[in-house]
Amino acid sequence: MLWILFLSTILGLSSSLENGLVRTPPMGWMSWERFRCNTDCTTYPEDCISERLFREMADMLEVGGYKEVGYQYIIIDDCWLDHTRDKDGKLQPDPQRFPSGIRNLSDYVHKLGLKFGIYEDYGNLTCGGYPGVLGHMETDANTFADWQVDYVKLDGCYSDPDTMITGYPEFGRYLNKTGRPMVYSCSWPAYQIGHNPNYTAISEHCNLWRNFDDIEDSWASLLSIIDFYGDDKDKFGSVAGPGHWNDPDMLIIGNYGLSVDQAQVQMGMWCLMAAPLIMSNDLRKMRPEFAEILLNRDAIKINQDPLGVQASRILRQGYIDVYSKPILPSYQNKYSVAIGFLNRWTSGTPIRVSFALSELGLNHPSGYSAFDIFSGKPLGNFSPKSTFTADVNPSGFLLVRFNLLPGRIRKTGSRSEIGKLNLQFPGLTGWKTEL
Ligand SMILES: *[C@@H]1O[C@H](CO)[C@@H](O)[C@H](O)[C@H]1NC(C)=O
Ligand SMILES: *[C@@H]1O[C@H](CO)[C@@H](O)[C@H](O)[C@H]1NC(C)=O
Ligand SMILES: *[C@@H]1O[C@H](CO)[C@@H](O)[C@H](O)[C@H]1NC(C)=O
Ligand SMILES: *[C@@H]1O[C@H](CO)[C@@H](O)[C@H](O)[C@H]1NC(C)=O
Repeated sequence: MLWILFLSTILGLSSSLENGLVRTPPMGWMSWERFRCNTDCTTYPEDCISERLFREMADMLEVGGYKEVGYQYIIIDDCWLDHTRDKDGKLQPDPQRFPSGIRNLSDYVHKLGLKFGIYEDYGNLTCGGYPGVLGHMETDANTFADWQVDYVKLDGCYSDPDTMITGYPEFGRYLNKTGRPMVYSCSWPAYQIGHNPNYTAISEHCNLWRNFDDIEDSWASLLSIIDFYGDDKDKFGSVAGPGHWNDPDMLIIGNYGLSVDQAQVQMGMWCLMAAPLIMSNDLRKMRPEFAEILLNRDAIKINQDPLGVQASRILRQGYIDVYSKPILPSYQNKYSVAIGFLNRWTSGTPIRVSFALSELGLNHPSGYSAFDIFSGKPLGNFSPKSTFTADVNPSGFLLVRFNLLPGRIRKTGSRSEIGKLNLQFPGLTGWKTEL
């Protein structure tokens, strides 16, 4: 073991960024998806990108119970900046919308026991056209440290993607040099979609990174992101782990585009994917059925599982996709598992799913106790050979936690390969259909 450590040190073998941060996926709130680049505080005083918005959302993390279940970062996205740097070349916020300054806002957030994040861009300009960090990296890293920033999202507009392999690490070194621990969120691979992003390098230099397109407020957008992660053509799933995470973008639960069932799809999938749980919604106007999903402690516990393994898609069959994530507790090299069943079917009746546990790789001889995360109901104990049956709603999600039951394993457990589900489509008897 020591030899391996020693060898990897002298050979300079790759390792992940180790700044001690985000050992489990970060949780918080960010402005972009819901509030965009609304800079018109005259017409939209409540919704424009301003210190008022971030103070109110920080208050709401506390008041709404979000802080209590783990949401802690308040993150400013684009459009906070003034169009010019100050006379010393430093970044400055828009003086009308952030009259008290960023340090003042950061202090406000910290006083609530929360953490403070900010947005910049690796290129000449941010996506919204404000000054980027290119040519000013050291100054800007120091400014963020002076402002007591805890989290930096670095976007990639107005830059050359071919230079990211050196540019993103360079800014990371300046962040490190400040001596202030700051989570480093990179948009690097999202600007190299289809061009084989180097995930080894990315995980060496960033705490999290956006792999794919920006999320929008729709089921179609959500599904396209989930499929990109399920397909995992670039094999980034295996790079995830404590301190370094794939980021499928913000949680849009509580906005306009998702039904309650579709909101459970996003929450369930993000928890299985060990994704950052960064909401972008209006916490001042949350409908209770959506708040309940975001505050689901059993779902969050799967997301924050210390193993930090990202789920993989183990089966696709007739509108049902199955995702599996190993979680604790473990016993003699066997893990408990969270299994998600995504129903892609939008025809209006639930699909009945049934399977022997061993068909999904659940072969611990002592069996498992099952718990339905969104209904909050225990489903009983199952042996590898028992049949599990449940209904999955149209464009909905079933998330089940299978906890290992303690017990002695005689010799080896029964081996099993991923097999088949038995699917029933009620109301379709006698119908000819392509399933
Ligand atoms: C922040 O600014 C507000 C006024 O905008 C002021 O009341 C408050 O004292 C300032 N807080 C700090 C910590 O400077
Ligand atoms: C950034 O701006 C500089 C100076 O105007 C220019 O030379 C350079 O090409 C720009 N880089 C990108 C990637 O647009
Ligand atoms: C800087 O990098 C070193 C080496 O990876 C690490 O041990 C240290 O925690 C980092 N410091 C900060 C402030 O990020
Ligand atoms: C990817 O990055 C790693 C670590 O920085 C490096 O060793 C490797 O050569 C790179 N791979 C490619 C294909 O460029």
